[in-house]
Amino acid sequence: MTDQQIKGCIFNLDGVIVDTGKYHYQAWRRLANQMGFDFSKEQNERLKGLGRMASLEKILEWGGIYMPEAEKMHWADVKNNWYISLISNMKPGEVLPGVLYFLRQVRELGIKIALSSASQNARSVLKSTNIESFFDLIIDGTLIKKEKPDPQCFLQASVAMGFAPAQCLVFEDAPLGIDAAIYGGFTAIGVGRPELFPNAHLTIEGFENLRFNNLLGQLTERVIS
Ligand code: BG6
Repeated sequence: MTDQQIKGCIFNLDGVIVDTGKYHYQAWRRLANQMGFDFSKEQNERLKGLGRMASLEKILEWGGIYMPEAEKMHWADVKNNWYISLISNMKPGEVLPGVLYFLRQVRELGIKIALSSASQNARSVLKSTNIESFFDLIIDGTLIKKEKPDPQCFLQASVAMGFAPAQCLVFEDAPLGIDAAIYGGFTAIGVGRPELFPNAHLTIEGFENLRFNNLLGQLTERVIS
């Protein structure tokens, strides 16, 4: 695999570019506490990649709470307002280590950069952290109709860039997202602990000191061996 074959890189946002998981956790936990129960960081990990309503369903299930759909919509809005006030205070320094350097390397090679996030708040996060201009294309939760592991979010990005899935790398921190990338025919790179991504083509711990060409070299070795 060479940089000539790779035409596009598609990045998930939450957990790949920035650690917004902690803000989702704070807001969901506040909601759970208000309903009279608590939930753990480990449980929060299992919400990664799930959409807003699907996350709420899981949390209510953990709390043993039943409520009609209209009430669920209300609580999802309440949580979202808390979340919005948390991310509005985010700063450029919250972009995860090595991300900007990595994005610059990709850009210098003439490879297109897309963001694909299930979050409807993705643009606000990009604005608060001042990284919107790094992305040639932004697909966010307002444009995506099917949730991961459906590959729609990544396919929309590759189609809009004019490339086939095989010409794109997908960077994901959620096992659901890795499955989505693989179903879509993309090369899937897990970002996080290797044991989380048995299906990924390659796993990286993060972007710190990561050289794009080394990454391609490792991918080639994997594909050949
Ligand atoms: C995903 C996160 O990126 O976006 C999930 O991993 C989150 O935790 C989902 O629930 C939807 O986000 P939002 O901001 O639209 O509620």
